[in-house]
Amino acid sequence: MGLISTFVFTMIFVAVVGAVIYSLIKFRWREGEPEPHQLAGHTKLEIVWTAIPLGIVLLLFALTARTMNKIDPPPLEKPDLIVTGHQFWWEASYPASGVMVANELHIPVGKPFCVQLEAADVIHEFWVAGLTRKIEAIPGQTRYLWLEASKAGTYTGVCTEFCGVQHAWMRFIVVAEEPAKFAAWQQAQSQPAAEPAASAAAAAGLALYQRLSCVSCHTVKGLAAGASVGPDLTHLASRQILGAGVSENTPAALRTWLKNPDAVKPGVLMPNYNLTDEQLDELGAYFATLK
Ligand code: CUA
Repeated sequence: MGLISTFVFTMIFVAVVGAVIYSLIKFRWREGEPEPHQLAGHTKLEIVWTAIPLGIVLLLFALTARTMNKIDPPPLEKPDLIVTGHQFWWEASYPASGVMVANELHIPVGKPFCVQLEAADVIHEFWVAGLTRKIEAIPGQTRYLWLEASKAGTYTGVCTEFCGVQHAWMRFIVVAEEPAKFAAWQQAQSQPAAEPAASAAAAAGLALYQRLSCVSCHTVKGLAAGASVGPDLTHLASRQILGAGVSENTPAALRTWLKNPDAVKPGVLMPNYNLTDEQLDELGAYFATLK
């Protein structure tokens, strides 16, 4: 496909530039020559130069559609990863291990991962420039794509379909790592949240977390499961980014977020609980235990 289009475009370039150079030389101004004959429209020519590009575009379209069909996994493939676009974050679950994460996907290097793509609310578009083509996530439609990295590293992903006010902050990262490292990550992520027995502040934070009914939107495995209105928080502290890329995941940034999510990310669905400083400390201490 790439080769064919390069060939077609080179031919067009050569033909157009050739015609321009030829005309420049052949019809250049000469001393004493009369004004050239003036033409106003030429139906036959216009039909020809409309039909040829149309034919080329149709051919490239057919070839592109065929290639896209060929490179995407067949729908019967069992997904390694189910990614769901939400306003304004990405949910990712690994069916084999039951691991649920948000905005930070991990994949093993060298293994093609079959991704099943869904959307929870409106149309989003999944794009990791370094790894895949763009593909729309459409509510009620299931799509599949391959996600594969040949080199370890962190790849940036974005939503590329305007989906609301925070469309720009609907980023994610794909961490491609050696298979052993990936297995260890998956093992750690599949554990339920640890009991925050270590500190009184964390225990108070947990009590507050339950009292504020955070669990009706967020899942913390071992505490309450099943809610996916907001990101799964079971291993929140292990993640690198917060609010789908709006900031780095540091205790200070998390505190700013909890104080007033809408100030950090206007239009976010998470309400402002008007937490006191003490409550912010307690929740922060609890979330720090969710490694
Ligand atoms: Cu989701 Cu733009």
